[in-house]
Amino acid sequence: MQLAERINRISVSPTLAVLAEAERLKARGVDVVDFGPGEPDFPTPEHIKQAAIRALAENRTRYTATAGIAPLREAICAWHAAQFGSAYTPQECIVSVGGKHAIFNAVSALIEPGDEVLIPAPYWVSFPDIVKYAGGRPVFVPTEPADGFRLRAAQVETAIGPRTKMLIVNSPNNPTGAVVSPDEFARIYEVCKRRGVWLLSDECYSHFAYEPARPYSVASIADSKPHIIVVGSLSKTFAMTGWRIGYALAPQPLVEAMLKLQSQSTSNPTSIAQYAALEALRGPMDSVAAMLAEYAQRRVRILEGLRAIPGIQCGAPEGAFYVFPNVTAKLRDGAADSAALAQQLLEREHVVVVAGEAFGAPGFLRFSYATSMERIEEGLKRLQRFFAGPDSRS
Ligand SMILES: Cc1ncc(COP(=O)(O)O)c(C=O)c1O
Repeated sequence: MQLAERINRISVSPTLAVLAEAERLKARGVDVVDFGPGEPDFPTPEHIKQAAIRALAENRTRYTATAGIAPLREAICAWHAAQFGSAYTPQECIVSVGGKHAIFNAVSALIEPGDEVLIPAPYWVSFPDIVKYAGGRPVFVPTEPADGFRLRAAQVETAIGPRTKMLIVNSPNNPTGAVVSPDEFARIYEVCKRRGVWLLSDECYSHFAYEPARPYSVASIADSKPHIIVVGSLSKTFAMTGWRIGYALAPQPLVEAMLKLQSQSTSNPTSIAQYAALEALRGPMDSVAAMLAEYAQRRVRILEGLRAIPGIQCGAPEGAFYVFPNVTAKLRDGAADSAALAQQLLEREHVVVVAGEAFGAPGFLRFSYATSMERIEEGLKRLQRFFAGPDSRS
C-alpha cells in the first residue's frame, strides 16, 4: 500500500509494543513479571472517580469547548500557580487528550520542515517521532551516566545551531529518572532565551521527585512566559493514564494555534474525564503523597536488588518511577545488545523490561517500578537466576 511519506517517518511507540507482548503472554496464562509499564499501578483515587460518575449522572456528555471547559482551564492555571509559582491565565491554557497530544500539537504548530529540535538523550520515545512527523530534525544532546544523565546548560549552548527552533526538557526524566536542578534549569532557560530557542518543558513526572529533589517548574522564573511551553499531564500524578487529560501552558497565540489544530482533529478531550480532572486539581492531594512514598520504598529495594547482581551498574533515579541500569558488562555469550538481552529475559524468565535502544541508549535496560513490592521481589529473584546462568555470565 502506498502510504503518505510523513507516516513512514515514524514507527509504533516501542514501549507500547513491549506492553502488547507482555499482554499476549499474560493472556496465555504465563506468570509475567512486568517491569515494562510507563504508568502507575495504583487505581485512580476514589474522589476523582466519583466526580466522573457525578458528571455522567448530570449528563455532562456533550461536546465541550475545544480547549476544555472553562473551570478546568482555570483550575489548571490555579493549581500550577499554587504548586510551582507560575502565573498563567485560562487564555494561555489548553486542555488536551493527554500530555502527548499537547506536545504533538505544540510541535506541529511551531516546527517547519528543516527546523532542528534539541532532544537530550536518553529520551522519551515519542519526542523524536513527533518532531519528525512535523518535518523537523531531532538533534540529540547526549547526557552522561557519570553525571546522572543530567542535562547541562553548557551542552545546550554547544548544541544550538542556526536551525535550532526548540529544546525539549523532560525532568524528572523518562527513562533515566534524572532531575534538572532549579539552578541548572534557570541557566538552560537563559541560554534558550538568549539564542531565541523555545524551551518546551515536559512536566509529566513533576510530582514524583525524591528527596532532596522537589517538584519544580521553569515557569516559576519571572517573565519566562514568552520563551517557554509547559506541558503537564494528569496521567502519572493522579494515576489517570486511561482518562487522557493533559494540558499546555503557553503564550496565547501559540495556544490559539494549538486550538485550531485540536478543533480539526480530536475536538475536546472527553467531557466526563474533564470533570474528573477538575476534581483532581481542586481536591485533596494526599493520594499523590501516598503514591510517592510507595514509589520511594520500591526504588530503594529495586536499586539494592539490581546492584547486588555483579556487573550491573545502576545510578539512583532522582524522580519518576524508572531505574535505568547499564548492562553492557552482561552482553556476552549470546546477547549482542540490550535489545537481545531484553528478549532473552522475556523468553527465559518472563520478565518484561524495555531495552535502552528505544530511548537512544543501547547498553541499558529500563525497569519500571510501578508494580507491587511482591512482583519486584519475584522479578529480582528471576534476574538473579538469569544473570547467574551460563549464557549471561559476565
Ligand atoms: C516523558 C513523558 N512525557 C509525556 C508522556 C505522555 O503522557 P500522557 O499522554 O499520558 O499524558 C509520557 C508518558 O509515558 C512520558 O513518559
